Amino acid sequence: MCGIVGYVGERPAQKILLTGLKRLEYRGYDSSGMAVILPSKNTLAIRKSPGKISCLDKLLKSKPLDGSIGIAHTRWATHGAPTQANAHPHADCDNEIVLVHNGIIENYETLKNQLLKEGHIFRSQTDTEVIVHLIEKFYKNIPLEVAVRKALKLVSGSFAIAVISRREPGKLIGARSGSPLIVGIGKNENFLASDAPAILEYTKDIIFLEENEIAILNKDRFKIVDLNGKEIAKNPVRLNWDIEQAQKQGYKHFMLKEINEQPKIIENLIGLRVPKDSKIIFKEQYIGVKKLKSIKNIFVVACGTAYHAGLVGKYVFETLSKVPTHIDVSSEFRYRDLLINKDTLVLAISQSGETADTLAGVRQARKLGASVISICNVLGSTLTRESDGVMYTHAGPEIGVASTKAYTAQLAAIYLFAFYLARVRNTIPLAKLDKLIKELKQIPNKQAEILKEQNIIARISRRHSHLGSFLYLGRNVNYPSALEGALKLKEISYIPAEGYAAGEMKHGPIALIDEYRAVVCLAVESKVYEKMISNIQEIRSRRGKIIAIATEGDKNIKELTGEVIYVPKCDELFSPLLVALPLQLLAYHISVKRGCDVDQPRNLAKSVTVE
Ligand code: AGP
Repeated sequence: MCGIVGYVGERPAQKILLTGLKRLEYRGYDSSGMAVILPSKNTLAIRKSPGKISCLDKLLKSKPLDGSIGIAHTRWATHGAPTQANAHPHADCDNEIVLVHNGIIENYETLKNQLLKEGHIFRSQTDTEVIVHLIEKFYKNIPLEVAVRKALKLVSGSFAIAVISRREPGKLIGARSGSPLIVGIGKNENFLASDAPAILEYTKDIIFLEENEIAILNKDRFKIVDLNGKEIAKNPVRLNWDIEQAQKQGYKHFMLKEINEQPKIIENLIGLRVPKDSKIIFKEQYIGVKKLKSIKNIFVVACGTAYHAGLVGKYVFETLSKVPTHIDVSSEFRYRDLLINKDTLVLAISQSGETADTLAGVRQARKLGASVISICNVLGSTLTRESDGVMYTHAGPEIGVASTKAYTAQLAAIYLFAFYLARVRNTIPLAKLDKLIKELKQIPNKQAEILKEQNIIARISRRHSHLGSFLYLGRNVNYPSALEGALKLKEISYIPAEGYAAGEMKHGPIALIDEYRAVVCLAVESKVYEKMISNIQEIRSRRGKIIAIATEGDKNIKELTGEVIYVPKCDELFSPLLVALPLQLLAYHISVKRGCDVDQPRNLAKSVTVE
């Protein structure tokens, strides 16, 4: 996620802005920049650089910025590679206005084409730049905040912005819709920030801007208005967080914060790909329709959690897109005698885009003539540069080593791509596709409902945290969910945990069942529900400790198992998007109870860039 800091007051802005950016580094970024109004010449000066904040710091040491109003930004690239030109801040044609932005402008291409026709000069490939030129277009004999309101009314997508202009050098404007932005109220100084850590050392009196609210700040006063200019009364709240707590927005661990971010991320991703019903768009996916129609099979290559997402994909592509789908972990794929060729579409899934085995597999596949599409969370990562097409998951940086929000974002990308393929290959009726899209759009709310019950899941987790091993059982599209649940537990609590296709119980695992082992059974409403109930009865008769994940309203299962975690009803095809959350929370709370390092578990790295 990008980071924003803004300052208006009596102190030198540069130091406050730079320190603020450093406090936001944990959000992940690949370039940074700053703009300050120089009082001497009443001009706007910008300094920006790709890479770490140390590069910006070096630039500022050689060319310092002297002024007491400014904005600064760390960029997590979504549109346009992490280059000097694409780094924020962005200025209008005459360098009178500068702006920084966090979010995604979904209609930026339409807006940009119109602005180009009107003679605006663009200097970057970013979606952000359209906003500052829109403000420029309206900023004629009206206050800056009015021009900002007019511009934002034309924008669709998510934004948090900070804007200043040399025409009104004492004014700092902030606005948000879909991306967080807070106002810090100081003594003869005021602040904007994406997140509290950036400004906590100066003030703990914070106003959390709500959707479509605009802050108009001068050094000694503030005003909050809505998009129509109507003033909104707001009183600051006093935060009692320290810096580290604030980076986690009050959550105890990054993993818990990221688990709770999932509904918003999935909602944004669906909104981005399906701007209106039955129209599915993948802008950065450059494999043409003709090619997608001609492929004979899909081969998924990935590691760890990404592999589990790909395994769900096998069920989804074969059900919706009717394309035979194979899958293997990257470390096996790369050494196999692969029977792939130009008729194969290789789907590489990787949160980091830097996993060595997956990169090696993709290179091998390309040598054999296959086309490659990657599902990735890091724009400009190696994998994306070696793929024919990319589907970004836009989940923002995932700090916890255990992948959570990236996993469900990968799943969402898979469902959306399966819909896209089904449209292109005409494998399901449009009416059914529209119904499925509507069902997928309801998933974020259903995930949010699950998260409201986290305390129940926490209690169940703690009751089982002493057990020495866990078995996870699932069938069909939730067999991968069982594998993922076991991986989550073992990697952050160090408890031996195994995921298994429930139908395989009699072929070995049933020998493990006794009262010292927990068995997590994924028994949501589905065509294999009765089979799961049979498995549960087999486990019960051997005194296994069962934790069931079931569909709301299922009374039957409550009699059969000690512990039930309910998830809302949904089309079984989408149930991995719901089942993932209780499995993540189960692992999280057991790990916390056992005193493990949840965010940085032993022996593990966030990205395995070596074999
Ligand atoms: C998942 O929780 C683990 N951190 C790990 O299995 C991870 O999914 C795997 O290393 C793949 O990483 P990637 O998605 O960045 O390629």
